[in-house]
Amino acid sequence: MSQTASASAGLRVAVLFSGRGSNLESLAKHMAQDSVPAELVLGISNRPKAGGIEICAARNIPCQVIDHKDFDNRAAFEAVLHEAVTEAQVDLICCAGFMRLLTAEFVTAWHDRLINIHPSLLPAYKGLNTHARALQDGVATHGCSVHYMRPEMDDGPVIVQKQVPVLPDDTPDTLAARVLGVEHGAYCDALDIVIKKMADTA
Ligand code: GAR
Repeated sequence: MSQTASASAGLRVAVLFSGRGSNLESLAKHMAQDSVPAELVLGISNRPKAGGIEICAARNIPCQVIDHKDFDNRAAFEAVLHEAVTEAQVDLICCAGFMRLLTAEFVTAWHDRLINIHPSLLPAYKGLNTHARALQDGVATHGCSVHYMRPEMDDGPVIVQKQVPVLPDDTPDTLAARVLGVEHGAYCDALDIVIKKMADTA
């Protein structure tokens, strides 16, 4: 597994998603600007009914469904995933609500070319149900992190974090909505940072 960066010609980006796709849409809008030297060349969903598939269609972004349920194990699923991004000559993979754990082998193969958004201020609240756990702990501040992925779940160098206040009458849903409100800008800011870094080292 190896990739060749083509940052000078604009970064070729794939977005992996499993659901609604609001971060996918925000990244797509961002990369559609002439001032951003990156192109969203491929969307990949591991769920056949993910809302993000329609977002790709509406924006003429090539999209593939690679349903993890069609495979016996993670390695077989990831072999097809790797083939898809390699065929599309992707330089950078952005996970945006992609709810599958990736193996150490895949993550290592895409070292520093694989980033993720997580709805907490990492290293706090790795894993699922971040908003409910933050509320249960009574924290005053919550937020999101965009980070380079490493083999351990929700681990890796943070690129951008954005904070939001936790309000006294918050529920997991109201807090999730407030966090989502800062996720879109955080992911675009992080993408800009990564684009610059990859161009500098190309
Ligand atoms: C976002 O809140 C994202 O941070 C979260 O899933 C949501 C996807 O929303 N990701 C994770 O929980 C990853 N562990 P979207 O489909 O509207 O972008």
